[in-house]
Amino acid sequence: MRTFTSITQLQTALRDCRQQGQTIAFVPTMGNLHEGHLDLTRHARSLCDIVVVSIFVNPLQFGPSEDLDAYPRTLAADKEKLFAEGVQFLFIPGAADIYPEGMDLQTQVQVPDLSETLCGTSRPGHFTGVTTVVNKLFNIVQPTIAVFGEKDFQQLSIVRKMVKDLCIPVRIEGVATARDTDGLAKSSRNSFLTPEQRRVAPLIHATLLSCRDAIACGFDNFLQLESHARMQLLQAGFEPDYFAIRDARTLRAVNENTEEIAILAAARLGSTRLIDNVRLALN
Ligand code: PAJ
Repeated sequence: MRTFTSITQLQTALRDCRQQGQTIAFVPTMGNLHEGHLDLTRHARSLCDIVVVSIFVNPLQFGPSEDLDAYPRTLAADKEKLFAEGVQFLFIPGAADIYPEGMDLQTQVQVPDLSETLCGTSRPGHFTGVTTVVNKLFNIVQPTIAVFGEKDFQQLSIVRKMVKDLCIPVRIEGVATARDTDGLAKSSRNSFLTPEQRRVAPLIHATLLSCRDAIACGFDNFLQLESHARMQLLQAGFEPDYFAIRDARTLRAVNENTEEIAILAAARLGSTRLIDNVRLALN
């Protein structure tokens, strides 16, 4: 595995790969890699000759009161995991490489409608930070395929929309959420949970599943389902941010054109914010 910190050195190496006819898949991450991230790299490997993983804790997507400084950084362990998966290129730029003129950017990429709901409500500016950095990384790596996790379903939807609206020449692949055996979605932030919080945390997935079951059985009072789920989370010690039943394509309210429902939740346990979602296809 070759590790690059310099954009130009990475681009020179990728140009050589392209000249040899190799296809390139890209997996952007913020590091502290777990099985969920590794599933993305495996999917990437199954589709392309060369896999590029980036590790960059992007300051632009963290709010002033969020956990940028505390975000877990585990580069040595991350490198070992990627090497074991057969990833060929690791890109670890510094903030000065990605934002050479500082954080007061003139040009940013915004996908307003999808970005302003759900996580966008409690994290203003977060998705603009994501789309701006993902767009920059796409321009640097110029992959054939880029792989994202369904765990961050809103992020995946926004990236797909950005790629479509801006005619970015990359195919976006979504990969199913990797979970612990008790259902908790794997996340770098799970390491912040106390043992007691870790015991309670799987309830977020269980609540999503029981809501999905109820809808699949024909229960269609969504407001009631949402408030019941929020109440369950509250009683278990969560501070629910949202629990929402939405159209999976628009992330807006379900209507007669909805083909797939997404049920999405975000809740805090102590200071740790957890998110998860499940989907249900309608026939
Ligand atoms: P990060 O949280 O490190 O996640 C990197 C990728 O891994 C994302 O596509 C995310 O959806 C995926 N992922 C995380 N946990 C997962 C799980 N349990 N199962 C499947 N996939 C999972 O998301 C980001 O970084 C950043 O916003 C980024 C896109 C890199 C832009 O900075």
